[in-house]
Amino acid sequence: MSRTQVAIIGAGPSGLLLSQLLHTCGIDSVVLERRARAYVEARIRAGLLESGTVALLNQAGVGARMMREGLVHDGVELAFDGRTHRIDLKALTGQQMMVYGQTEIQKDLADAHAAAGGRVLWQAEEVAIHDFDGHTPRVSYRHAGARQQIECDFIAGCDGYHGVTRASVPAGRITLHERVYPFGWLGVLADVAPVADELVYVNHARGFSLCSMRSMNRSRYYLQCPLDDSLDSWPDARFWDELRARLPEKYAARLVTGASIEKSIAPLRSFVAEPLRFGRLFLVGDAAHIVPPTGAKGLNLALADVGVLHQALVEHYRAGSETLLSEYSARALARVWKATRFSWWFTTLMHRFSADTFAYRLQLAELEYIAQSEAAACAFAQNYVGLRPPH
Ligand code: APR
Ligand code: PHB
Repeated sequence: MSRTQVAIIGAGPSGLLLSQLLHTCGIDSVVLERRARAYVEARIRAGLLESGTVALLNQAGVGARMMREGLVHDGVELAFDGRTHRIDLKALTGQQMMVYGQTEIQKDLADAHAAAGGRVLWQAEEVAIHDFDGHTPRVSYRHAGARQQIECDFIAGCDGYHGVTRASVPAGRITLHERVYPFGWLGVLADVAPVADELVYVNHARGFSLCSMRSMNRSRYYLQCPLDDSLDSWPDARFWDELRARLPEKYAARLVTGASIEKSIAPLRSFVAEPLRFGRLFLVGDAAHIVPPTGAKGLNLALADVGVLHQALVEHYRAGSETLLSEYSARALARVWKATRFSWWFTTLMHRFSADTFAYRLQLAELEYIAQSEAAACAFAQNYVGLRPPH
């Protein structure tokens, strides 16, 4: 049986960042990941970072390429009823956003982790966690054909929504809150110049759309679509036609189309598990909560959890104190619920839920209110750039 201080399940952004931050403080960890490294790095996910997330990646020493290649955005546009309104995030909050793909973060983390001699067991099968209520938790798994075990002080469940750690908590000790939305997002990545310098969120009678980007020559576009649509029914030409139909005129005229390099349909869901600590097991990131992508809070929330848990573990190992460990769940959830509320609200404001014209007119009224009231714009901007933790 081998030993480590912190056993981390999952080598997504949460697991790798936690391991890297712990390493910079001299705390030993082992990461167990079900998939191969190439598979994890090929997943196309979000790409919009709050300044707190940028700071944390820099603190972990993995931010150099992001600072060189990432695009800094001072504002964001809301489009509705044929018009556009820019929210000046920087003027309203003093903060900016960073466009940098999660795929790139994943590579930067894995490279830095490997360079620092960090241990990731890629393709670890049958991972199971044991005795997390006792003093010496264990993780068992199969790797390279052999069954093995690791003894540890703590287990960090960074294994995403479908992971094993949350599922290992007895049902009576965990509460799950969930909302499933009646549509999905059809996403396309294409090597074409984006229609605008900043992101554009579009409320349209035909359905929501979003113009995002990964660089000034790689665009990421999304369309609200029925949940049961298949990719076969969305050849590139239909995607571009539908996007053009939903864009305000000035952007429709500027839209550059091209072959898609990735296309996928994702369902939208809100999900929060409570609490996030069970003895010596901590749930982190997507294992603990999911938000719909409207507003791009998922990755930011996940990495904020990592920051809070990292601080708590450092305090434990340096000062022998349990205080921050015992506060992890409440501190992380305080931010999670506010971002869950914002993501639900922004989703509700921008999507077509039904043919109900009353609901549509209310959306337009609220968007007009945001466009004319600095207080309303400020409330939007504060949530969009990320609310700071309460303590
Ligand atoms: N054993 C080992 N690894 C597992 C297991 C298991 N039983 N189950 C899942 N995993 C791995 C997955 O293969 C995945 O690589 O855990 C990892 C979880 O990574 P993510 O799903 O990316 O979750 P997280 O690291 O919390 O990332 C934050 O927020 O909104 C999102 O897009 C955002 O994916 C990002 C996430
Ligand atoms: C993305 O670029 O993938 C993205 C950006 C903003 C969002 C959601 C997704 O709100």
